[in-house]
Amino acid sequence: MVSIGESPKEQIIKDFAAHVSSGKADFYGMVDLNFILGKREGPWMWDVTGEKKLINCHCNGGVFNLGHRHPVILKVLREALEELDIGNHHLMSEQRAMLGKKLAEHTPSEITRTVFGVGGGEAIDFSIKLARGHSRKHKIVYATSAYHGHTGLALAAGDAHFKEPFEPLAPGFVDVPFGDADAVEKAIDDETAAVLFETIPATLGMPLPPEDFYRHVREICDQKDVLLILDEIQTGLGRTGKLWSFEHYDVVPDIFAIGKGLSGGLFPITATCYREDLDSFMNEHPFIHVSTFGGAEIGCPVAAKVLEITAADSFLSRVNKISNNLTSGLEVLRERYSEILIEIRRKGLFMGLKMSDIGYGPLMSIAGYNCGLFAVYADNDRSVLQLLPPLIIGDDEVAYIIDAMDNAYTYAKQRPDYLELARSLAM
Ligand SMILES: Cc1ncc(COP(=O)(O)O)c(C=O)c1O
Repeated sequence: MVSIGESPKEQIIKDFAAHVSSGKADFYGMVDLNFILGKREGPWMWDVTGEKKLINCHCNGGVFNLGHRHPVILKVLREALEELDIGNHHLMSEQRAMLGKKLAEHTPSEITRTVFGVGGGEAIDFSIKLARGHSRKHKIVYATSAYHGHTGLALAAGDAHFKEPFEPLAPGFVDVPFGDADAVEKAIDDETAAVLFETIPATLGMPLPPEDFYRHVREICDQKDVLLILDEIQTGLGRTGKLWSFEHYDVVPDIFAIGKGLSGGLFPITATCYREDLDSFMNEHPFIHVSTFGGAEIGCPVAAKVLEITAADSFLSRVNKISNNLTSGLEVLRERYSEILIEIRRKGLFMGLKMSDIGYGPLMSIAGYNCGLFAVYADNDRSVLQLLPPLIIGDDEVAYIIDAMDNAYTYAKQRPDYLELARSLAM
């Protein structure tokens, strides 16, 4: 029986430090952010003591697009538990067939195939395996300071600080500045299998690509017979106000990865979707990529329901309306705190607040926490606070977020001593 808050908080922290992560316990102790997630519902999270309430503007990078414990998704999971378990990954499956078909209905017409996974890193790993297996070339061009996950090939396409201790990693990864199509062209050679980008890179601080960037990249890839892989793990599933964020740029990738929000926050499931004609490789080697829990059958109806909800036109237009309302409030704060907040980056509710100092990302995470809002800075550009509220918020929550951010900026302004500390955290 689960019982939130049964143990005293001090004991939980002690046990966590002793048996799970002493480093995290030390870090959160140092910045005085001893929040332990207890009750959670919709956009809200409570500490185990029930004393502290936060609006979740982190959402695990989009996992909680529909908020915590969305009742419709919960019902689907409960029903699935009555009849299903994970199934068998070697056999054919009614549930995976159903979800694969649904994904094909909601992706561009040339994208018809899906391989399921458990985590986003796995979905990216498979994207790279497919590109290499199909082309029999090995180089992957990716964005400097990108983040695509903690697993082998995904890690090799990430920022140095995530991978240096684990070197040597897989060879053949070449980085280019994000948004620079000329650099992409120069980096490609006869050994290049694919170009991999997160459509808008979250960990890099949500820099929006130049409008014609993806059109150019698509042309270059087509000319040079190189595949285009897009990571939609954070940006997909309605987060940017369109179902897939590459729709903003009028391109269709050859392969794209979906994760995070697809689980509804209730059952881990990810997907790599790809073009019909790339399937010859998988057809020849149907057992070459094995994932015991990938596309577990219990998760398939959950993901299908998430997809149905987020793909609805009415849902997406509501995301855009809320984004506009939130931005109006943030613009007022930008004028009020112009020495700190210098730019509002956004597509839908995929938002990054660019600030004037690398200390402000960590400082605003702490200030936000003290003012009732949970948001986390971008790890590879710590002058940016990522703002990812659940997509289901309404006007009351928008007003709450603006109020909390207003208080947080006041707090940040009054604590130059904390800015020094935050700068040191940002190193
Ligand atoms: C853009 C992006 N790609 C891939 C991943 C990896 O996903 P996971 O942690 O589920 O392996 C993440 C996780 O934060 C991500 O943000």
